[in-house]
Amino acid sequence: MPALKLTLNGRAVERDVPPEALLSDFIRETLRLTGTHVGCDTGQCGACTVHVDGRAVKSCSMLAHQAAGRRVTTIEGIAAADGSLHPMQTAFNQCHGLQCGFCTPGMVMSAIDLVQHHGCHSEAQVREGLEGNICRCTGYQNIVKAVQQGAAAMKA
Ligand code: FES
Ligand code: FES
Repeated sequence: MPALKLTLNGRAVERDVPPEALLSDFIRETLRLTGTHVGCDTGQCGACTVHVDGRAVKSCSMLAHQAAGRRVTTIEGIAAADGSLHPMQTAFNQCHGLQCGFCTPGMVMSAIDLVQHHGCHSEAQVREGLEGNICRCTGYQNIVKAVQQGAAAMKA
């Protein structure tokens, strides 16, 4: 199996990984970081969203080896060094932006990308920006509120 080297949540990682392994499977099964969820495995639900070089990516639609030499961040890697939550995580908590929580890691990772790279925070912009993330509990109302609050906190 070819070796794969990348940076995962700020740490250098090296593992032997089959060429056909998906990034999502590498994260969950090899590295045991199960905060990245797999809902559809076909690039539709967004539950598996992580950041690669700072941009949101559906990790089920990328081979692990395509992340070679790159910087991957999962939901486990966005809290501050002292363990305090990322402002977007705090906003989801305070706004009750989750029910079962299955979609939440992907929502949070997409929302951070949305704010960082598009500066979006009107309701319409948030809804459009998160259209690739599906909540099967249909808790969209509070998710949108959470993203708007998180966006304001990130900018402050
Ligand atoms: Fe990747 Fe659904 S599991 S988009
Ligand atoms: Fe259950 Fe979104 S909170 S899938």
